[in-house]
Amino acid sequence: MAPQSLIAGFLGALLLAGLGQATSAVGQRVSDSSVAGAPLFESETFQVTNKSLAALKPNQTALFGFQSSSTTHNQPRKRCRLLPGDKSWPSDSTWSQFDDILGGALIKTVPLAASCYPSWPEYDSGKCKDISTNWTVSYEHDADPASIMWPLFEGRTCLPTAINTTSTCSIGGYSSYAVNVSTVAQVQLAVNFARNANLRLVVKNTGHDFNGKSTGAGGLGVWTHNLKDLEFIEKYNSSGYQGPVVKMGAGVQAFEVYEKAEKLGYTVVGGEGKTVGVAGGYVLGGGHSPMSSVYGLAADQVLALEVVLANGQFVTVTEETNPDLFWAIRGGGGGTYGVVTSIISRVHPKVGVTVSTFNFTTSANVSVETFWSGVRAYFKRFPAHADAGTYAYFWIIGTGPNSFQFLMNPFFAVNHTLTEFNTLLKPWFNDLKALGIPFTPNTTYYESFHPAWAAGFPLETIGSVTMMTGSRLFPRENWEDDSKFNATLRAIRSTVSMGHPLLAFNMKAELPDGYPEDSSNPAFRKTLMHAITSATWASNATNAQINSTMNTLTNNVLGKWRATCPEAGAYLSESDIMEPNFQQAFYGTNYGRLYKLKQRYDPTGLFYAPTGVGSENWQVKSEDGLPDQNGRLCRV
Ligand SMILES: Cc1cc2nc3c(=O)[nH]c(=O)nc-3n(C[C@H](O)[C@H](O)[C@H](O)COP(=O)(O)OP(=O)(O)OC[C@H]3O[C@@H](n4cnc5c(N)ncnc54)[C@H](O)[C@@H]3O)c2cc1C
Ligand SMILES: *[C@@H]1O[C@H](CO)[C@@H](O)[C@H](O)[C@H]1NC(C)=O
Ligand SMILES: *[C@@H]1O[C@H](CO)[C@@H](O)[C@H](O)[C@H]1NC(C)=O
Ligand SMILES: *[C@@H]1O[C@H](CO)[C@@H](O)[C@H](O)[C@H]1NC(C)=O
Ligand SMILES: *[C@@H]1O[C@H](CO)[C@@H](O)[C@H](O)[C@H]1NC(C)=O
Ligand SMILES: *[C@@H]1O[C@H](CO)[C@@H](O)[C@H](O)[C@H]1NC(C)=O
Ligand SMILES: *[C@@H]1O[C@H](CO)[C@@H](O)[C@H](O)[C@H]1NC(C)=O
Ligand SMILES: *[C@@H]1O[C@H](CO)[C@@H](O)[C@H](O)[C@H]1NC(C)=O
Ligand SMILES: *[C@@H]1O[C@H](CO)[C@@H](O)[C@H](O)[C@H]1NC(C)=O
Ligand SMILES: *[C@@H]1O[C@H](CO)[C@@H](O)[C@H](O)[C@H]1NC(C)=O
Ligand SMILES: *[C@@H]1O[C@H](CO)[C@@H](O)[C@H](O)[C@H]1NC(C)=O
Ligand SMILES: *[C@@H]1O[C@H](CO)[C@@H](O)[C@H](O)[C@H]1NC(C)=O
Ligand SMILES: *[C@@H]1O[C@H](CO)[C@@H](O)[C@H](O)[C@H]1NC(C)=O
Repeated sequence: MAPQSLIAGFLGALLLAGLGQATSAVGQRVSDSSVAGAPLFESETFQVTNKSLAALKPNQTALFGFQSSSTTHNQPRKRCRLLPGDKSWPSDSTWSQFDDILGGALIKTVPLAASCYPSWPEYDSGKCKDISTNWTVSYEHDADPASIMWPLFEGRTCLPTAINTTSTCSIGGYSSYAVNVSTVAQVQLAVNFARNANLRLVVKNTGHDFNGKSTGAGGLGVWTHNLKDLEFIEKYNSSGYQGPVVKMGAGVQAFEVYEKAEKLGYTVVGGEGKTVGVAGGYVLGGGHSPMSSVYGLAADQVLALEVVLANGQFVTVTEETNPDLFWAIRGGGGGTYGVVTSIISRVHPKVGVTVSTFNFTTSANVSVETFWSGVRAYFKRFPAHADAGTYAYFWIIGTGPNSFQFLMNPFFAVNHTLTEFNTLLKPWFNDLKALGIPFTPNTTYYESFHPAWAAGFPLETIGSVTMMTGSRLFPRENWEDDSKFNATLRAIRSTVSMGHPLLAFNMKAELPDGYPEDSSNPAFRKTLMHAITSATWASNATNAQINSTMNTLTNNVLGKWRATCPEAGAYLSESDIMEPNFQQAFYGTNYGRLYKLKQRYDPTGLFYAPTGVGSENWQVKSEDGLPDQNGRLCRV
């Protein structure tokens, strides 16, 4: 939206901003100093202050300004968030004033696939074709202010017609508006407006989230994708760490930070997924990495964050300045305690990596039992491989009745030469040979992380509406006890034999010595395998059939996994939205403290994310009865 009018009262603030800047109209340029130990980005030096709010009319301040705590306490707690059409929903004039105050950064949501539908003014069969072609490509969704990569959890209300010929197109579970933020002031104004007007607040970065955390009907979105500032600092000094760091804007994606790190000779702990938001939901939820077996989780690397809290205030979060938040926000999940605008993380020296891909299958010469013996021989090596600092992404899939395939996709041997890799893999490879299982490793050594990662991890496919996932962090003790080890293999074999694929990571993610504790799932600290599986249904399945498939996955399939390690948990960012007792599974023993801090920093529950901390106090009654975000958000 473009600003439609500039109200005279804003001019004072505008002058402070400096004309010509792509900033909000309301806000004030402040110094770039920060107790984080590195200067604020320019985008962070433009902030809403009490002084800049003086430019607004009182009725506007009531909507877009900070609220003193006394007024918050006196307000009755609203049971439900608003939806368009409600009596109290902001008028068009209010939205337009909001856009003016933002400096024209407000975007009214048009579903990404609207170009496929004649009922929308955006109808354009050429564009529809492009959108359909690229529906499974993540770039298409991360560059859109509202779209998400798992449309099932939006409510499937506007799919490309090539995917669902009977679909219609409505906004459904997509947020109603998004602010395309480029300054802290715009984040603060959006947070204030949502809080003061009782709107559902949605934080969307890339839209990778598996469970619909970055979408929500009637939502006002804070779209962080364009916060792309990226700087490496060679000599950072804080009380707990002296050395090189990277400061990343919240919109930086894995491929971007890896490219720059490669040029400067550093290694960054980020995801294997190319387009994941490394400074957004990924790191806030823990974040596993091809480097995790060596350096722990992505959240463990974080030394400081700049954050807009639910009360609209912009704060620096470090171990010294805000120790509670510093603990909670690093691992406790995105969209829960505030909107992060940047993070500062440790980076590590350049390291060589050996990457290997190979596969084996059942065949005339490899029986089903022999195949699973080969898998068993591999699983036996999990402790040795993870303890050697390697990260392996492998799949086991059923390819027909009594036929199976194992894919190493890839084995990522950090700090291993070819010889060291061969030595590490020799025991397993010898077992495979003894079993008569043929396989041909394609193994390459790379001098540094970036080319190894680029060769090893292709862009993944997203956008499915006929699939859901679930996962488990299998603990080391399942390897230390023979009967637990056998139970683990039985559970995996049963899953794959029932037609569900296994996509798993052999890795570890221990907190490195001397790093401050964070709130990442304690189950991660003990794991040797993060295992994911999924269930699919036919494209014409009814909602009741989908529901029943989901229930089977949650209870029967994943139930068998849980039974092998009831005390363990699952990774909140790659999980089953219906995980029973999600508080224990996703947060473990940290949940009590995380919940208390949620009440302290977000007493009105402004930040809501399905399966997030405190989400049990809320409920979405979806239109289709499935666990998606296409419905009104209400307190339970
Ligand atoms: C193809 C693919 C590959 C993946 N690869 C990996 C991997 O290698 N390792 C791994 O650990 N995970 C991986 N994931 C999971 C990924 O970490 C999660 O989906 C994560 O939520 C993505 O964060 P995002 O910011 O990119 O996505 P979004 O969906 O935009 O955001 C996710 C959550 O974080 C919140 N959030 C985002 N930005 C902010 C912010 N600045 N401040 C506050 N809250 C915010 C959102 O509100 C939402 O709750 C992958 C997922 C996919 C689909
Ligand atoms: C504030 O009041 C003025 C009239 O004084 C009105 O024009 C404007 O729309 C109001 N703004 C909001 C956000 O209510
Ligand atoms: C702004 O004013 C409010 C209420 O008067 C006060 O509580 C708050 O601390 C002030 N914020 C700043 C950043 O000065
Ligand atoms: C699809 O995505 C690819 C990769 O991002 C891009 O190069 C291509 O132009 C896109 N195609 C269409 C038709 O949009
Ligand atoms: C296709 O769209 C129709 C109508 O919107 C819906 O009922 C059906 O469930 C959708 N199918 C899939 C696979 O999403
Ligand atoms: C979002 O804002 C950026 C500037 O920060 C601009 O380059 C981009 O085009 C905007 N995107 C949309 C979809 O408006
Ligand atoms: C680093 O900062 C600490 C205080 O946090 C200070 O005591 C120390 O001298 C600094 N070291 C360097 C090399 O600047
Ligand atoms: C399995 O390995 C063989 C031999 O290296 C290779 O030709 C084939 O493409 C691989 N199959 C898959 C599915 O990767
Ligand atoms: C790589 O391994 C060697 C020992 O083989 C060790 O000395 C070195 O610190 C490791 N480097 C990294 C970056 O982990
Ligand atoms: C081996 O792997 C490299 C790097 O991924 C790839 O370029 C090459 O095509 C592969 N070779 C074979 C025979 O599969
Ligand atoms: C585990 O399975 C192996 C191989 O089938 C078997 O030899 C062993 O006795 C089993 N151990 C236990 C404790 O069941
Ligand atoms: C879906 O289509 C298949 C054949 O394509 C048919 O057998 C099945 O009954 C259909 N299911 C539903 C729920 O319509
Ligand atoms: C899905 O199953 C749950 C119980 O498992 C039930 O409450 C809900 O109504 C079902 N929804 C649909 C669409 O069948």
